[in-house]
Amino acid sequence: MLIDTYGRVATDLRVSLTDRCNLRCTYCMPEEGLQWLSKPDLLTDDEIVRLIRIAVTDLGITEVRFTGGEPLLRPGLVGIVEQVAALDARPQMSLTTNGIGLKRTATALEAAGLDRVNVSLDTLRPDVFKTLTRRDRHKDVLEGLEAARDAGLTPVKVNSVLMPGLNDDEAPDLLAWAVEHDYELRFIEQMPLDAQHGWKREGMVTAGDILASLRTRFELTPEGSGERGSAPAERWLVDGGPHRVGVIASVTRPFCAACDRTRLTADGQIRTCLFATEETDLRAALRSDAPDEEIARIWRLAMWGKKAGSGLDDPSFLQPDRPMSAIGG
Ligand code: GTP
Ligand code: 5AD
Ligand code: SF4
Repeated sequence: MLIDTYGRVATDLRVSLTDRCNLRCTYCMPEEGLQWLSKPDLLTDDEIVRLIRIAVTDLGITEVRFTGGEPLLRPGLVGIVEQVAALDARPQMSLTTNGIGLKRTATALEAAGLDRVNVSLDTLRPDVFKTLTRRDRHKDVLEGLEAARDAGLTPVKVNSVLMPGLNDDEAPDLLAWAVEHDYELRFIEQMPLDAQHGWKREGMVTAGDILASLRTRFELTPEGSGERGSAPAERWLVDGGPHRVGVIASVTRPFCAACDRTRLTADGQIRTCLFATEETDLRAALRSDAPDEEIARIWRLAMWGKKAGSGLDDPSFLQPDRPMSAIGG
């Protein structure tokens, strides 16, 4: 079990497969990209599968999410999914992607054992997409989404970040579109995890802004008891249901007290939190032929050091060195 000093138990593992991406979202990275990890730095497919096996057999992980950068850029992805699906303690498997490669891969990923996908899409307008992501790939994302739904990678969730002056007027249109296409839409508050360190609290669209905007066109009622458990998204029924909309309010309504996550970077570092400022090296242990028990011990110890929360509200908050694209969201 991966338990921390606050009694939280991590059952959800997020695995970043690459720090590279084929988009350049302005809230994430600069036009020129970043200094990417080199091939020898990356865990190999076998190393990743071994760590996931240890996590599900010895450490109580039940859900695995593959992230990036853009995880569909990892050549071995289908093989990794296949091998994880063959484990005795098979975890739930999902993928968070920008959707561009899904048209090509959705069927193979489903056949390999992937359960579902979350796709990032911030706008319905191709010109705004091009400004936001600095790439002209809007159509590819829409086609990727349809391919995922047709392949049965459901429920397909769509993640949207709203940026002032760019797409912050689009919340109701995005929701109408998501309802029509049977995607579960979630809005994410922008977090200070961009490589350029350009985030400002005053410059972000808050959960409150988003809900007010949605309520101009839809009736929203809190789902269930309003209890979201460990899920980052708070959800509302749209016009009485069955469709839902979520808001991931990491900044204005943090959910750290219920966090059930542990993270693995593409270069084999454990992160106990998105906002952790320290990491624990598993790659060195892997490459010095440590037995499974030793790897599990290092992982348990790392989680014991997990902080109470993101620290976003502390006056001394410092953004982690590793940007979102290299952590895996
Ligand atoms: P499901 O609802 O199970 O599909 O997963 P999810 O919402 O956690 O997954 P996804 O990868 O789509 O993440 C959506 C957003 O939630 C991303 O912007 C993540 O960075 C954010 N997020 C995920 N985990 C955490 C977390 O532990 N802390 C914070 N603050 N944000 C998180
Ligand atoms: N703040 C909030 N969300 C972000 N994402 C990327 N960078 C940030 C940020 N700084 C989103 C992506 C994707 C999800 C995994 O994280 O748009 O939907
Ligand atoms: Fe790529 Fe995701 Fe960053 Fe956009 S937010 S540049 S899709 S890693």
